Amino acid sequence: MEKEFDTTALTVGVVGLGMMGCSIAACLLMAGHPVIAVAPVPGDLLTAGDRIRGHLEHSYREGLIRVAPESLWSRLGIGEDYGALKDCVLVIECTLEDLGIKREVYRKIEAVVDEDTLVTSNTSAIPISILQRESIRPGRFFGLHWAEPSHTTRFLEVICGELSDIEKGEWLYRLAHCWAKEPTLVRKDIRGFISNRLMYALYREAFYLVENGYATVEDVDRACRNNAGYWMTLVGCFRWMDLTGVAAYHKVLTDLFPTLSNSVGVPRLIDDIVQAGGRGVSNGKGFYDYTDEEARLWKETFERFSYEIRELALRYPVDVVERQLGSSK
Ligand SMILES: NC(=O)c1ccc[n+]([C@@H]2O[C@H](COP(=O)([O-])OP(=O)(O)OC[C@H]3O[C@@H](n4cnc5c(N)ncnc54)[C@H](O)[C@@H]3O)[C@@H](O)[C@H]2O)c1
Repeated sequence: MEKEFDTTALTVGVVGLGMMGCSIAACLLMAGHPVIAVAPVPGDLLTAGDRIRGHLEHSYREGLIRVAPESLWSRLGIGEDYGALKDCVLVIECTLEDLGIKREVYRKIEAVVDEDTLVTSNTSAIPISILQRESIRPGRFFGLHWAEPSHTTRFLEVICGELSDIEKGEWLYRLAHCWAKEPTLVRKDIRGFISNRLMYALYREAFYLVENGYATVEDVDRACRNNAGYWMTLVGCFRWMDLTGVAAYHKVLTDLFPTLSNSVGVPRLIDDIVQAGGRGVSNGKGFYDYTDEEARLWKETFERFSYEIRELALRYPVDVVERQLGSSK
């Protein structure tokens, strides 16, 4: 699939250079694309260059790329001018989760790009069918949902809205294989797409267990790490049921499903934290408290882990068994 594309000839734009915009820009540079990175607010330019360069250098040290970061860096154009996007085949919007802000950004992007340019959003939760109504050409509008840090994670969802042209979506899906991803094509829009629907079902139950005194935050985290965290990177959920016996799941869910939380309100546990200004590791106040030193070490530890788990996952790709069958023939 990757052979179909010469990424060095396909310029990609990234608009919004916060945490995700920077790691997405790094990922695209590592895949060989020339990248135009546009800062919609001037403040982005204070940090974005260093962040992107840092990702490239770290990836080089970790062996994710073999070419010197300098040569990739030279393919990056960075600034505030939307006009620089005019030759892009694809633009990825990565601004705050706010419809008004995104609408204004699409207006500026579409004023300069070609009519064939694909325009995409990294939105976490706004349905693509809603966002694409803000586009003057909704058929070329898609969701492109990344996971942080985008230059190391294998996750990517390509999401079609009601008005998206499915053939263009399939093209994007094939191109995404050039970015060291195992992408998913979501052919029919649904709020939260796939991974957030799965994760929020888990979060809801986690809140329920803690708020109702069944377990502490620490206990829930420990159970997640050592059960799902142990096998998920290899198999996901359906093959896990195959591996461990489908009939048992059929039996358990009959009695268990009716007892699971189906609450639709914001859980008190998170509301209290947010109302008190807690933002998690970034200001030291979340479900746990962090000193500055602890917060720094958690960020560093997560970064180190993301490189290591990527390496492990690459040894067990989605077609790991097909490959073994092929090599034994
Ligand atoms: N953080 C994650 O793990 C994650 C994962 C998947 C998707 N996303 C989505 O990616 C998008 C960006 O998230 P992030 O984590 O990089 O956020 P961030 O806060 O790090 O960056 C937000 C960016 O929005 C832009 N911005 C801020 N105010 C603006 C304005 N008034 N007008 C135009 N642009 C403005 C700036 O470029 C800023 O850097 C969001 O839609 C978010 O839901 C985030």
